[in-house]
Amino acid sequence: MNTVRTPPLPNSDTVETAELSPRTFLHRARVCLTRNLGIAAIGLAVLSVIYTADAQTAAPWKAPASVAAKKNPLAGKADAVAAGKQTFTTTCVPCHGPTGRGDGPAAVALNPKPANYTSSAIAAESDGSLFWKLSEGRGGMVGFKATLSEKQRWELISYIRTLQGKK
Ligand code: HEC
Repeated sequence: MNTVRTPPLPNSDTVETAELSPRTFLHRARVCLTRNLGIAAIGLAVLSVIYTADAQTAAPWKAPASVAAKKNPLAGKADAVAAGKQTFTTTCVPCHGPTGRGDGPAAVALNPKPANYTSSAIAAESDGSLFWKLSEGRGGMVGFKATLSEKQRWELISYIRTLQGKK
């Protein structure tokens, strides 16, 4: 390759560019481009995570009034609590934790975090509202209407009430 030697200039970058073979130049350009694209992609990913987390925390989760008014048909039944505890232990504990505080081992990876049943906000929610949320699900909270019977879901509500210190 015929390199053109320019007289040494005070700016060393200019000298280097003049001596670059087209191949080296292309290689460097590609490395530079790939690196910048990588950084841009990471930036976008971080931004979208922040945006999604924000959006989910911002949106309140409210059950429709018609279902929120439903009463637990198994309220006050001890065997419902016992059955609910069993389903809870196998199905809900990984996320909601053994005492329902939302601190199960799988909670680390979730945003928003699993609900803490012992919080005053959730203790104040109606049976119907909790039943609807547990049935429909949202985001990291899978809906259980397809996998648990209606009876099993009301049993869970009975059990969750005991975690809140209610009967
Ligand atoms: C994979 C993790 C995961 C599992 C398993 C899970 N949950 Fe959840 N749960 C969540 C998350 C996350 C939320 C919060 C969702 C939100 O606010 O968008 C939540 C929220 C809820 C809520 C709504 C509380 C409120 O009023 O805001 C109820 C009720 C609930 N879960 C019940 C259950 C029950 C009962 C089970 C077991 C049958 C269960 N969940 C299993 C992750 C889970």
